[in-house]
Amino acid sequence: EIDDDPHRPSYHFTPPANWMNDPNGLVKWNGEYHLFYQYNPAGPYHGSIHWGHAVSDDLVHWEDRPIALEPDTGGPDRHGCWSGCTVLDDDVPTFVYTGGDGHDQLPCLARAADDDLDTWQKSPQNPIITDPPERPQILANDDWNAEFRDHDVWKEDGTWYHLIGSGTEDAGGTALLYQSDDLLDWAYVGPILVGDRDEDGPIWECPELLDFGDLQLLQVSNYDKVAYFLGTFDGQTFDRKDSGTLDHGNYYAAQSIPDGDGRYLSWGWIREDRSASAQWDAGWSGAMSVPRSLSLSSDGTLVVQPAEELTRLRGERETIDRQTLSPDDPSPCDGVSGDALEIQLELELDGADAFELVVACSDDGEERTSIRYTDGNRLIVDREHSSLSDAANSDPQSIDEVPQSDDGIVHLHVLIDASVIEVFVNDRTSVSSRIYPTRADSTGVSLEAVGGAVELYSADMWSLESAFTDGSSAEAASN
Ligand code: FRU
Repeated sequence: EIDDDPHRPSYHFTPPANWMNDPNGLVKWNGEYHLFYQYNPAGPYHGSIHWGHAVSDDLVHWEDRPIALEPDTGGPDRHGCWSGCTVLDDDVPTFVYTGGDGHDQLPCLARAADDDLDTWQKSPQNPIITDPPERPQILANDDWNAEFRDHDVWKEDGTWYHLIGSGTEDAGGTALLYQSDDLLDWAYVGPILVGDRDEDGPIWECPELLDFGDLQLLQVSNYDKVAYFLGTFDGQTFDRKDSGTLDHGNYYAAQSIPDGDGRYLSWGWIREDRSASAQWDAGWSGAMSVPRSLSLSSDGTLVVQPAEELTRLRGERETIDRQTLSPDDPSPCDGVSGDALEIQLELELDGADAFELVVACSDDGEERTSIRYTDGNRLIVDREHSSLSDAANSDPQSIDEVPQSDDGIVHLHVLIDASVIEVFVNDRTSVSSRIYPTRADSTGVSLEAVGGAVELYSADMWSLESAFTDGSSAEAASN
């Protein structure tokens, strides 16, 4: 039974069953947030992709809705409705998404046919762009005539702008720009930026341009991670000034919506990290990150945090007073345990080699996941002992150079939700991870200093309530 599965998250969004990947078409409409996502109703594998749908009025509680979009036999999306976005066209929510058809992947459009955004009318003009551009030379392979997919569309001064993810033969990933007056007839402008294949990845999926006033942020998924570039976009090209990795773990295909006050809310797909057969046995695959807030600090660096709305799920709280923690000290948070937790720590290595936050720990320590900050300024999620099962990936995940905080101390903000862990460091970057403990008692938490003293300025821990009203996963909507 999927709902009894101890690895199912309780406050990270998942569909009732089957496969999910990218978040799609995020939109706030009539006061509600709509999340669509890449979904295979046939099982927990990436097959014939539909758009699943969920609705929230507070960003943390989600209601499952019927499938919004499905491939049409004989249509230009017959092999899949892949990633895209929602725009408001004269106040009509409109999807721009990728249709898969044989060796082609081309943009398609669909308009909302009801106020709940449950039914969608595909445009008879699909595909709305019939060929990828000639230049730059677009990557092709045995599967694809051209790598040409995923859409970010916005309107400025009466003109629609449209970015499509791609890759080039002689350089790296790119985002191609088009313009239109009516969302149907598109003129190609050119690549806004071309990356370096080795540094920035061969192909950019899910490109997205976020506007922070003086600076713009281009985020792309480069077959490995979500990378971002900070710079300026002049309507044609992107002048890159800075770059980084948004998340150093399993976070992918992020998509965002503006939410006033210069912040964006952003979600990413947190993929599984266990064997395909384990996913098959589980009956589900993939979780959505919690909503994250993206903003720029006054000095122009990217600030990444769990969205404040998440505090609505906070239950019981445990606070630990400021103290110096030495290697042989007992853990100061003995009473804390659980598999739906939020932990916020502020600390400084005061002679220690490392500080360890151990989570999902069994009574005898046989299963344990260590989130370790070392004096080499590294953050490691050590999964060597996270699971007794061979099906789980036990490789460590790390941030090799943690960006410093303004006050020089280390700020850790950790979300634990059954098999999902999101670690935010110094409000600057994150690592999203998956663990699959097998023992029912693998719920313990401890704090440890390694090789010397740690100054623990503050530690706050909350148990978090379920995001699903029935206490388990999203109820399937009856349709
Ligand atoms: C990213 C991605 C997109 C594509 C979709 C297919 O994870 O590969 O490029 O549109 O997923 O499901």
